[in-house]
Amino acid sequence: MEAALGATLIDAEAIQRRVRELGAAISRDYRGRELLLVGVLKGAAVFLVDLARAIELPVTLDFLAVSSYGASTKTSGIVRILKDLDASIEGRDVLVVEDIVDSGLTLRYILDYLHARGPASVRVCTLLDKQATRRAEVVIDYTGFVIPNCFVVGYGLDYAELYRNLPFVAELRLASNEASEGAGAL
Ligand code: IMP
Ligand code: MG
Repeated sequence: MEAALGATLIDAEAIQRRVRELGAAISRDYRGRELLLVGVLKGAAVFLVDLARAIELPVTLDFLAVSSYGASTKTSGIVRILKDLDASIEGRDVLVVEDIVDSGLTLRYILDYLHARGPASVRVCTLLDKQATRRAEVVIDYTGFVIPNCFVVGYGLDYAELYRNLPFVAELRLASNEASEGAGAL
């Protein structure tokens, strides 16, 4: 399907400023503790490496890769773990780092999955929040930006695996309004 970049929603400077603010808030809230950042591949990778460098605490990193069944970004709620965590999270303070929370179904699954593994705490930090489309109940502790219900790319977010390397977040315009098809990877 034909796709083209639309208007910039959040420019690179605004993202970097917000990442520094989030890093400062997280550093304050976890003062004196060691934090495990769990990034959800692939979308959260770009945000996670910037966020990690804005946190002034001992930090370790791990990654989960998940995919919803089917080729659509309209999450079914049935999530498959493609790559599990490398190490145990038992007794650890875990901060899940997400690129975007849309329906919340992916995050709901990930939180249940992590809670079953005995962490000391689990919180969530997402760069983007599409509140209007939420279907699952999830508490988000740190939010970069609340955005309207449009399909966005950049700063980790993709359409058919492209655009992840853009330093800003922009709307994606599609030739047809089937914005979800063709973008399989989370
Ligand atoms: P959920 O609907 O909250 O389960 O979100 C599932 C996943 O869909 C997110 O983690 C993203 O990877 C992807 N996603 C949702 N909205 C967008 C978007 O606007 N652009 C790119 N990916 C998106
Ligand atoms: Mg994602």
